[in-house]
Amino acid sequence: MKSYRVAIRGGQVRALARGVLLRSCLGGPLGLTPGIVMADKPIILSGMQPTGGLHIGNYLGALKQWATLVREDQHDALFCIVDAHAITIPYEPEKMPGLVLDAATSYIAAGIDPDQCTIFLQSDVPEHMELAWYLSAVTALGDLHRMTQFKEKSDQHKENVNAGLFTYPVLQAADILIYKANLVPVGDDQKQHLELAREIARRFNTRFTNVFPEPQAKLSRTPRIMGLDGKSKMSKSKGNTIGLLDAPKTIEKRLKSAFTDEKKLRLGDPGRPEVCNVFTMHTALSPTDQIDTIRADCQSGALGCGDCKKALSTVMLAELEPIRARADELNGNPKRVLEVLKDGGARARKRAQATMADVHTAMGLTTDHRGYSSRS
Ligand code: AMP
Ligand code: TRP
Repeated sequence: MKSYRVAIRGGQVRALARGVLLRSCLGGPLGLTPGIVMADKPIILSGMQPTGGLHIGNYLGALKQWATLVREDQHDALFCIVDAHAITIPYEPEKMPGLVLDAATSYIAAGIDPDQCTIFLQSDVPEHMELAWYLSAVTALGDLHRMTQFKEKSDQHKENVNAGLFTYPVLQAADILIYKANLVPVGDDQKQHLELAREIARRFNTRFTNVFPEPQAKLSRTPRIMGLDGKSKMSKSKGNTIGLLDAPKTIEKRLKSAFTDEKKLRLGDPGRPEVCNVFTMHTALSPTDQIDTIRADCQSGALGCGDCKKALSTVMLAELEPIRARADELNGNPKRVLEVLKDGGARARKRAQATMADVHTAMGLTTDHRGYSSRS
């Protein structure tokens, strides 16, 4: 016989049967009203800021992996556009809606199928901000002071070092924990924020009750793409990028200028693929047998950087062409993208509210009047 664990939280019924999670709204009698039936798969959450101009670093470090994970259908995945994070650096409010639309368009164009996952806007789920406040009470000030992204961004924006920039990782932890996410597919630069999210989850669970799983970062095969200048990671603020939606001619031209291996100066010089950013991009984009040949021919000196870049141009253009085509199509039908956000926001919010009921109960921030409390 199947046993069901049924809990009523904030107007929702959650029933756990062996391996199957049923979520339904309290409508009819207290039975299992038909609702969304969802296999109990590991939960994935990730997000990006709508700051405009996603680049090949974002794609190879994060987006491509998101699309693959969704296609494999082994997870329950949510992808967020984190507009509330984006306000912590100088921005123009009148441009934000367009940037949000561009980000959602890029997610879908990159192959993240909105019918197979939830794509939503962070500010559509104000519970993220509520949870961030509660989590700030179990976050150590010293941990926030150690965050390298805070140090970098406060150096970049000396004129506007605001409290939001400092508590940014707490909101990021809330984004993740509010969906009880197990895995967070991100680039290498987010590892430190993920460590903190785990620490915050641990502290909350120890101080109150076990509400949150400890989320783990899931890095792609190429978690750090360097900029074309070879000096630092590819980043919009450094102007060292190849845009995800750049025209093919621009991509070819920019790739020609890419920094490779400083010790490989002339044709015939042996190269070091392990330190070369062009080779790193090959590993993400070229077929496996070609990667092996490129590695060997670079090491022997048979393959020059110019030809290696040409080969990379070919595979990169082939990869990005369908993405550009889908983005063009969606740009002609922005209503479709807005519907995805509206629908995703509603679904995400329901799930976030269910977790907040757990959080309120765990923290004693309720009485019996809500229908759930630590006493009822
Ligand atoms: P951001 O553009 O900083 O909001 O980053 C969005 C996502 O892309 C995060 O998961 C980052 O870790 C990832 N990302 C950003 N830049 C790079 C890069 N140069 N190489 C690899 N991943 C990156
Ligand atoms: N800080 C991340 C970045 O700069 C963006 C982000 C916000 C995020 N909330 C998140 C990433 C939750 C993963 C999960 O890229």
